[in-house]
Amino acid sequence: MRPSVLATRATFPDIADRLRQYFDVTDNPSDTIWSPTELIERLQGKSGVMSTGSERIDAALLDACPELKAVCNVGVGYNNIDVAACTARGVVVTNTPDVLTETTADYGFGLMMATARRIAESDRFVRTGAWTKTGIHDHFVGGDIQGATLGILGMGRIGRGIARRGALGFGMRVIYHNRSKLDAAQEAEAGAQYVDKQTLLKEADHLVLVLPYSPAAHHTIGAAEIALMKPSATLTNIARGGIVDDAALAAALRAGTIAAAGLDVFEGEPKVHADLLAAPNTVLTAHIGSASVRTRRAMAALAIDNLIASLGYGPQAGAPLTPVNAVRPQVRS
Ligand code: DGY
Repeated sequence: MRPSVLATRATFPDIADRLRQYFDVTDNPSDTIWSPTELIERLQGKSGVMSTGSERIDAALLDACPELKAVCNVGVGYNNIDVAACTARGVVVTNTPDVLTETTADYGFGLMMATARRIAESDRFVRTGAWTKTGIHDHFVGGDIQGATLGILGMGRIGRGIARRGALGFGMRVIYHNRSKLDAAQEAEAGAQYVDKQTLLKEADHLVLVLPYSPAAHHTIGAAEIALMKPSATLTNIARGGIVDDAALAAALRAGTIAAAGLDVFEGEPKVHADLLAAPNTVLTAHIGSASVRTRRAMAALAIDNLIASLGYGPQAGAPLTPVNAVRPQVRS
């Protein structure tokens, strides 16, 4: 009998069809967000799931779905998954790193530029018909990128990509802080210098957050951290909601503690804090850091290849391409 798998969200049909070569597939063409109970119901009898950040895969779910053997997440982040609980139950977990690095680094850099140069604010001004005079000297004046200090918190693959763009493309001084310091060759390649967190906050003209979410990273940037930044500084978050205290950020933006914020991720998204929505000095986008056609297709394809391999099928049978835990998948004879 063919195993059954669940794809929790609608994806590219031509890519998803690969799953049908090996499995009976339950999918979600209407792209409904299921409640935890609905998810558990749909996972009954399923050997694998192609999941996304919108589903929480925790111990309670795993206990209610004992046949589940593989959780293959679409996304480099996997804070929606209790990896330890999966490992303890022999469930393979995979993610989709690498294929999204450059696209997401482009986006982080672009969002930082849009924020510093007030692009969205000026767009809104033009659209509402408020533009009646040209040549106003201080009209939408913002911060420079060229020659400024770029600060990066979290220096994984995407952070290094943003650093390279700043150092090589825009002549920026790049400083970073991370749990572990890069080796000298990686620092040279990224054009970046390690500093402590306080120095990063104090010296960055533009601070970009790229660290993974974990409970320990909750509110890494709150009122106290923002207070250390320059009043002319910008903050860009492409990492995860919850890393920034959104209420504290909104208050700081209103008070002028920092100049502006570019946010692609939010606490409790898709809800956005009302004070951030009301703040003129924000650029707010809908968690689209990796959203180019090529990259989103590559992420779906990698998750599917991981699922096929994790359940012991296909050319990579038993060897998922990008595992998060060390559970050895079953190999079929
Ligand atoms: C990721 O890859 O983690 C993105 O945030 C999409 O969830």
